[in-house]
Amino acid sequence: MCGIVGYVGPRDAATVVYNGLKRLEYRGYDSAGVAVLAQNGHIAIRRDVGKLGNLGSLLAESPVSGEIGIGHTRWATHGEPSQRNAHPHVGMNGRVVVVHNGIVENFLPLREELEAEGVTFASETDTEVIVQLVERYLESGLGFETAVRQTLAQLEGANAVVVMSVDQPDELICARLGNAGGITLGIGHDEMFIASDIPAILEYTRNMIFLENRQMALVTRQSYQITDLAGVPLQPEVHNINWDPVSAVKGEFKHFMQKEIHDQPQALIDTMRGRVNFEKGTIALPEMNLTPELVHSLNKIIIVACGTSYYAGLVGKFMIEALSRIPVEVEYGSEFRYYDPIIDEKTAVLSITQSGETADTLVASEQARAKGATLWSIVNVIGSQSMRISDGYIAMQAGPEIGVASTKAFTTSLADMYMLGCVLGEIRGVIDPVRMRELVNNLAHIPSLAGQLLENEAVYENLASVFHGAQNFLFLGRGINYPVALEGALKLKEISYIHAEGYPAGEMKHGPIALIDETMPIVALATNDRLYDKMVSNIQQAKTRGGIVLAVATEGNKTIANEADYVIEVPASSELLQPILNTIPMQLLSYHVAVWRGCDVDQPRNLAKSVTVE
Ligand code: F6R
Repeated sequence: MCGIVGYVGPRDAATVVYNGLKRLEYRGYDSAGVAVLAQNGHIAIRRDVGKLGNLGSLLAESPVSGEIGIGHTRWATHGEPSQRNAHPHVGMNGRVVVVHNGIVENFLPLREELEAEGVTFASETDTEVIVQLVERYLESGLGFETAVRQTLAQLEGANAVVVMSVDQPDELICARLGNAGGITLGIGHDEMFIASDIPAILEYTRNMIFLENRQMALVTRQSYQITDLAGVPLQPEVHNINWDPVSAVKGEFKHFMQKEIHDQPQALIDTMRGRVNFEKGTIALPEMNLTPELVHSLNKIIIVACGTSYYAGLVGKFMIEALSRIPVEVEYGSEFRYYDPIIDEKTAVLSITQSGETADTLVASEQARAKGATLWSIVNVIGSQSMRISDGYIAMQAGPEIGVASTKAFTTSLADMYMLGCVLGEIRGVIDPVRMRELVNNLAHIPSLAGQLLENEAVYENLASVFHGAQNFLFLGRGINYPVALEGALKLKEISYIHAEGYPAGEMKHGPIALIDETMPIVALATNDRLYDKMVSNIQQAKTRGGIVLAVATEGNKTIANEADYVIEVPASSELLQPILNTIPMQLLSYHVAVWRGCDVDQPRNLAKSVTVE
C-alpha cells in the first residue's frame, strides 16, 4: 500500500528518497511526494499525482537540495488522489512535515478540534491532523520529541509515520502504531534510512531494525534511539538482511511479473535449501519450533490468508490433511476476524502471507493467539510482523516479489506447506521413513520440472494472441486443482481486467454452465489424477454448449486433444505437488494476455502489493 522513505546523512536526500520510492512502486500508489529540509532552513516539498516519473520530472525541473528528507507513495483512503492530498503534508506554520501510512480513525473529531482553534487545513486527508497536532504542541512550547509523543497518544487506528521539523533539523522521528505496514530503520555509516519495506534501502545497508507495534525511533545520521511511546528506551535487535539487491531488478525481463514467474525454479530450490536432505530423504523445519508434545496435542489447523495466499491455503489443506491427517480449515483473514471461531490451545493457526504485513491476516492471527492458539506463519518478507508474532515460521525464501500479482510466493508457499505436512505426518507417525523418502524424491524433481514449463513461452504468446479479446473466462478444476483454477482466474482478472471465474468443475452444472457459449474460453485443469475422467466429462459438457476449451493436461496425454480445442502440456508429478506445476501455465497465460492488452502488468490499477489497511 502506501510507501514511506526517510533519509538523514551526507548524500542528497531527495535522490535517496526518490530512489527508495521507486523501489516501493510495486506496493501500488496514485500519487507521490518528497520533502527536504533545505539549506535555508525551510521545508521544500514536491508532490504530484500519477506515476513516480511525474515526481521525478518535477524534481528535475525544480530541484530541492538538503541532507535530510522524507517521501511517500500514496494510495488514497481519505480524499481523492490529487496534488493537494499527496504526502508529505506540512503544518500550517511550516514547522513540521509528515508522511503517513494507515488510517487515523478519529481524524474527524481531531480536525474539528483543531479547526475550532483556528487551524486551517490544506488537504482532505486524515494525515494532516497529525502534522497540525505536532505543530500545535510545538507552538505551545513543547520540544519536537514531546510534541510527537503527545500527538501519537491521540491517534486511534493503525498508523505508521515519519515526522521532520525545522526545529530539530538533524532528526527524523518515526513510529509504528498497530499494523499499518512496517517501519524499518536502515543503519549506515554516518547515515540512517527509514522505509516501509526493505527493498527501498537495501542498496545502502543490510543492517536493519524493525519497529514493533507502539514503538518510536529518534534518528540522526549517527544515532538511533528506540523507545516505547512513553519514552522508555528499548534495545532492538539489529537484523542482517541477505537479499541480493540484484535480484530486485528486472534484468532481462520485460516486467517484474515475468521475471518472478521465471524465478520460480530457483525460488523453489531456495525454499527447500537447508530444510530438505535429498540424500537421507528427510525434512527439517527448525524455525517451526515443533515439539512432539505440541504436534500430538493438535486437533485442528486453521489457515488464515487473503487473496492468492488464501488460494495457496486451499491447496495446503489438501497437502497437510493428506500427509498428517490433522483436519485443516481455511479462512479469509478479512472474514475470520469477525467470526467467533472455535479455537483453543489444541489449535494451530497458520497464516500465509507474502508481505507478512496484510492487516486482515495479522488481526486474524492476533485474535487466534488471544484464544490460546499456537501461531505459525509461512511468510516471505524477513522480519515482517507476521514472522515476528509467530511461534514458528517458514520463510518462503522467494526473494523480493515486486510485481503486484503474486507468483513465486504462491508456488513456494505450496512447497512449504507440503514440507510442513510431511514433518507433521512424520511426528504423528502417519509417515514412515520409506514414505518420507518417496515424498522427498517427488519434491526434489519440482524445480527442474518448473524450469521445463518455462522453456516455451511462445505457447502462451500464441494463446494470448487468440484470446486477448475475450470478455469472460471460466477456469475449472477439481480436488486439489480447484484452488489452482481460482488462482488462474484471479491472476487474469487482476492484471488483464478480463472477468474470470474459477469454479469446481463438478459444480458447473449447478449454474455456470448457463454462461457457456462460443465466446467463452474455458481453462480446464485436467492433469492425470483420480479425477481426470471426471474432468474429461466436464470438458465434454462445456464443448457440447459451444465453449472453447484450453486443457492443461499431462505431457504425453494423446487423447485429450480430441476433447479440447487447445492443449497446454505440463510435466507429471505426484498428485499433491502437481498444483505447483499447474499454476505456472495460469501465470504465463494471464501475463501474456495482459501484455497483449497493453495493461500495466506490474502495477495493475487499484491494487496494492501490501494491503496494510482493512
Ligand atoms: C494477488 C495478490 C493478492 C495477495 C493478497 C495477500 O496476486 O497478490 O491477492 O495475495 O493481498 O497478500 P500477502 O500474501 O502479502 O498477505
